[in-house]
Amino acid sequence: MIERTFVMVKPDGVQRGLVGEIISRFELRGFKICGMKMMRIPRELGERNYEEHKDKPFFKPLLAYITSGPVICMVLEGENAVAVVRSMMGKTNPQDAMPGTIRGDLAQVTGRNVIHGSDSSESARREINLFFNEYELHEYQRPDEGWLFEE
Ligand code: RTP
Ligand code: MG
Repeated sequence: MIERTFVMVKPDGVQRGLVGEIISRFELRGFKICGMKMMRIPRELGERNYEEHKDKPFFKPLLAYITSGPVICMVLEGENAVAVVRSMMGKTNPQDAMPGTIRGDLAQVTGRNVIHGSDSSESARREINLFFNEYELHEYQRPDEGWLFEE
């Protein structure tokens, strides 16, 4: 099933110069970039994105981290995109993330784990609507689609 997911390179990823490396991995895997922008997340948007964690002890540092500098927001489309992107990101704690995953190759600790990705189709829909309006989302063909997918 072709679906869309929301992905964000967090402030550490931007400032460590990892944006190109991370986007490349998704492009090479065959995901289509349907939307992309750089922004500094306002506090309220950060709170809404992570509202599931509002009662957790790490909520305050998480919010400070995510609003500390610019992020790159993306909408990626592909087969089973939510789960596949999560598998490419690796476990939340980079120490548990497998080598070959983004966190397993590029990060050290949970509080600086360089990337966010939606954890379900429902979260994906919610987060895409939170970060992008209809004019910022695009439909187009990749010329390699005939080889990425079966008829
Ligand atoms: P994300 O939402 O950022 O994609 O990460 P995730 O699903 O893998 O992990 P989640 O449980 O949703 O946690 C969100 C972010 O909060 C920070 N965190 N810190 N100190 C802690 O125990 C702790 N737990 C989570 C991480 O930055 C994590 O990505
Ligand atoms: Mg999460």
